[in-house]
Amino acid sequence: MTFLRQLIALTLIISPLLIRSPLTLAKELPQLIQQNRQQLLTVDGKPFFMLGGELGNSSASNMDYMKDIWPKLKAMSLNTLLAPVYWELIEPKEGEFDFSLVDQLLKEAEKQQIKLVILWFGSWKNSMSCYVPAWVKRDQQRFPRAKDSQGRSQEILTPFSDANLMADLKAYSALMDYLHKKDKQHTVIMMQVENEIGMLPSARDYHPGANKAFAAAVPTELMQYLTQHQAQLAPELLQRWQAQGSPTQGNWEDVFGKSLATDEIFMAWHFARFTNAIAAAGKALHPIPAYVNAALNRPNVKPGDYPSAGPLPQVMDIWQAGAPAIDIFAPDFYNPDFKAWNDLYTRNNKALFIPEHHFDETLAAKAFFAFGQYNTLGFSPFSIESVEDAANEPLGKTYRTLHQLTNLLVQYPAKTHRAGVLLDKQNSEQKVILGDYEFTFRHDYTLGWSPAAKEDEWPTAGALIIQTGAEDYVVAGTGIVVTFKNRNADKIAGIDRIEEGNYVKGKWQRGRVMNGDQDHQGRHLRIEVGNYGIQQLKLYSYE
Ligand code: DGJ
Repeated sequence: MTFLRQLIALTLIISPLLIRSPLTLAKELPQLIQQNRQQLLTVDGKPFFMLGGELGNSSASNMDYMKDIWPKLKAMSLNTLLAPVYWELIEPKEGEFDFSLVDQLLKEAEKQQIKLVILWFGSWKNSMSCYVPAWVKRDQQRFPRAKDSQGRSQEILTPFSDANLMADLKAYSALMDYLHKKDKQHTVIMMQVENEIGMLPSARDYHPGANKAFAAAVPTELMQYLTQHQAQLAPELLQRWQAQGSPTQGNWEDVFGKSLATDEIFMAWHFARFTNAIAAAGKALHPIPAYVNAALNRPNVKPGDYPSAGPLPQVMDIWQAGAPAIDIFAPDFYNPDFKAWNDLYTRNNKALFIPEHHFDETLAAKAFFAFGQYNTLGFSPFSIESVEDAANEPLGKTYRTLHQLTNLLVQYPAKTHRAGVLLDKQNSEQKVILGDYEFTFRHDYTLGWSPAAKEDEWPTAGALIIQTGAEDYVVAGTGIVVTFKNRNADKIAGIDRIEEGNYVKGKWQRGRVMNGDQDHQGRHLRIEVGNYGIQQLKLYSYE
């Protein structure tokens, strides 16, 4: 081999190593990438699914209080903690920052090898401005409040004030600058900007600045966005615009009509611009992904009776137009209809992140469902420290299972290659089509073998299925029984083989081969209620 060829060969061998060497990877900030027809979060250069939990609001205000919480998080195999950073505590005096709490949080998370998503409790927390420092709260001349339709000031900073924006932006920027300098391990992987923004008790703000903006023309940037994205707009918004004749200029009521929905659209734009300015300033210092979460509204409740104008499905396009620095708009779940809401949040193939879900007994099943049905970046129940028996918590068993599936989730995107199933007594059956086969998932209790099947309520069951080859599937979940059909009616589907097992460092290690009673003599695949596991399924067909 000539020297030149040796050099080329050497370069070919070592360059991939250089690209993947831990040294290089460690320098890569967390980011969102597009790969295999889905959006993925990468941490140190590798895809990362957040198997998370969010702290109760006040827990991270004292690190002694946190001491008993970390072991619970480890016991549940969380890889990510969503923890607030409070404006009032980092900037107790204007311009004087105290990052001691953040510093301790970073150090402890790093020690525990748990990543952090920081929740910026800045101008708004569940609509209110309870986390702004006292020097902001007490100076309403300088930091004006939103007003209701009667002109009464609320404990909500108005977004129609440059002073309000600059005060929050400076504090958030100081935090991001601090993270950029201190967080060399990239423990913080994402930022939540504000928390459940929304206008109460009126659908819109009646501050004089708001009234002026409401009477003025809809900004050209928004009109251009709507015109350019007309084909993808949510029907809720499109219909309002079309009902007015799709005008391309005019004030808010000219363009969208006179209604509370228009008040919400107007506020959504201004909340979005405000939040975008903060997120963009932060990203300029430390460019990691950012999201905004939403309190979901209940049916037949009017804007203003629910916190109006957060990034809800009906105003999602407005948020997208107004806040390009926000990567994800995320639903918080304290409502029923898990699937219906997630469907709305994933329109146009958007990635999903579930930063909050009420801590209840449905979590494990919903985590399986969410990671199967959607390109979910993460799942995170609220008040994670309230767990009673962390070592035996079903969510922990689910996270240990989901963690093993990382490579498969990266490789096989939702809809085309994977699907999710969510079942209870009322909805005890669901069909899934993947490749040549149709799968019927039923709740485990439909078998009637368990005495608990007679109860009025069944535990929520959930699963995901991934197609990995023409006849190969991976099923993971809890409380399900699955039968199969070839989609070609002339062919009959049978089980070639089912194995239960685990992926260890990405490699399948089989446990039992599930035949006989375990697959009902070749009729079904089953993961009982109370079990949380993975089975590999190979089908075959005959005529
Ligand atoms: C949703 C909020 O985002 C959380 O901070 C917390 O207040 C919960 N609601 C309480 O249920």
